[in-house]
Amino acid sequence: MYRTHNCGELRIQDVSKSVVLSGWIQRSRDLGGMTFIDLRDRYGITQLVFNMDANASLCNEARKLGREYVVQVEGTVTERSNKNPKMPTGDIEIIVEKLTVLNASLTPPFTIENETDGGEEIRMKYRYLDLRREPLKNNLLLRHRMAFEVRNYFNMNQFIEIETPVLIKSTPEGARDFVVPSRVNPGQFYALPQSPQTFKQLLMIAGYDRYVQIVKCFRDEDLRADRQPEFTQIDCEMSFVHQQDILDMFEGMVKHLFKTVKNIEFSEPFPRMTYDEAMEQYGTDKPDIRFGMPITEITSIAKGKGFGVIDSAAYTGGICVHGCSEYSRKQLDELTEYVKRPQIGAKGLLYVKYGTDGSLKSSVDKFYQPDELKKWADAIKAQPGDLLLIMAGEKISTLKALGELRLEMGNRLNLRPKDVFKPLWVLDFPLLEWDEEAKRYFAMHHPFTSPKTDDIELLDTQPGKVRANAYDMVINGTEVGGGSIRIHNEDLQKKMFSLLGFTDEEAQRQFGFLMHAFRYGAPPHGGIAFGFDRLVAIFAGEDSIRDVIAFPKNNAARDVMIDTPSEITAEQLKELSIKIDIR
Ligand code: AMO
Repeated sequence: MYRTHNCGELRIQDVSKSVVLSGWIQRSRDLGGMTFIDLRDRYGITQLVFNMDANASLCNEARKLGREYVVQVEGTVTERSNKNPKMPTGDIEIIVEKLTVLNASLTPPFTIENETDGGEEIRMKYRYLDLRREPLKNNLLLRHRMAFEVRNYFNMNQFIEIETPVLIKSTPEGARDFVVPSRVNPGQFYALPQSPQTFKQLLMIAGYDRYVQIVKCFRDEDLRADRQPEFTQIDCEMSFVHQQDILDMFEGMVKHLFKTVKNIEFSEPFPRMTYDEAMEQYGTDKPDIRFGMPITEITSIAKGKGFGVIDSAAYTGGICVHGCSEYSRKQLDELTEYVKRPQIGAKGLLYVKYGTDGSLKSSVDKFYQPDELKKWADAIKAQPGDLLLIMAGEKISTLKALGELRLEMGNRLNLRPKDVFKPLWVLDFPLLEWDEEAKRYFAMHHPFTSPKTDDIELLDTQPGKVRANAYDMVINGTEVGGGSIRIHNEDLQKKMFSLLGFTDEEAQRQFGFLMHAFRYGAPPHGGIAFGFDRLVAIFAGEDSIRDVIAFPKNNAARDVMIDTPSEITAEQLKELSIKIDIR
């Protein structure tokens, strides 16, 4: 028997028991007469004691053990004289009577400690060592717990988990596909699913009514902290539902997770905000509502005073930062540089300092008297002591830049604590998005999303104004899930494809199977998919989803541990009828 107990479970009640433990050497302290070793496994750490007087040869053996050796010990549990209240096993130690080295270890390239000395790159290369560290281990345990509770919730609600294929035909969801060559069909390719979207709709047509799948999805897109080329969705679909039914069911899932995993109860329904409200007040479709500081438009009151920037702008708006009227020149310059960064792309930033004495000083004093600035302050609901930050320009880009600035101010003022959770629904997204470069509409969610019934007649006249039956769930400024009520009628689906610039033939070639299936009794249906990695990262308080994925890719989409992507042999290429032509 390798072990009678694990390294995290022995307590004072176990004193005088004979035990066998196996694990890794976390650290060892050689005090001459005594050697202490911390033995670690997944469950915790137990202190081992080797006594020179009691058994000199065993003690000498123990002194030779290096970090991360795998050993088995037999011994007796004893009460510690020097107890460690910080460790669950801190009341006891094991007086070792027998030691077996199960495997030696090279010295690890970084310390296996909570605060390690290893940089990101080396830890990714030796991910199996990094995964031994407590923070990552806890994240994976949390992930397991959450997956378990997700399945539990859906099982209680009559959902069934059904697997869908991984070698499919491409579905247009906005990103590039990863493709897989077919050996038996030379010159032809499968695509890896960006999501199981069409399959879950086909399952509704097949009558399965409530589907769920915790599933890998693949998207060849630029990576960010919250994006991986392969990631996991909690993918769901339901039949005979309106939007309201879907919101209730999946809000229920998120509440269930908060309750069971974090013991946080949300007794009220999650707030709901339309896409337009989110954009106007927060400059984004995924608002962080842990703090206020909403954006207020002042276009009409600011125009007409001879200041070109504002007079020529379609939109002027600002935010009120409480208690910051004393911001220095340097701090304001820093903020101006911040909004001018290419990722944000603003041309500049105006400010008004509303002094505690009621004075109003601004970067545009030349054009605006204090009584004019007071109108701005009143509109933006500022009080003496506040700082107003103002931007002007094209409406959407200015709102987005103000939204970024708002988040930055939230960070600077510590208004975004990681242990506060503020979920909300964002509703009524536009159905279509105009792409200036491609000069055509793209589906804002995906082409299977149904327009709102009231807006269907606008499809022919003002497609850009049509709202979709689409919704996102947002937590703390992250889009954790998105979905929609689907089109379930062939004619409307055809119309949608034609609005998206597909010819009839293209639509048939790519989606004929779905449109054809609509002819055999497609029920009204809708669904949602949650980004499981993002949900876990938020629960874990991590900034990057990499920290909640066992084997993630790095920023260049590489797995540096197994060294992939990598070349394949000439034979493999030949078998696949592929010639490489790198230009
Ligand atoms: P969508 O494309 O919005 O919808 O994706 C659903 C959720 O998946 C997460 N997500 C990602 N997480 C990590 N890395 C990525 N690269 C990544 N891309 C997306 C997000 C997002 O909200 N089939 C539809 C869902 C539906 O309509 O039912 C879909 O995939 O949290």
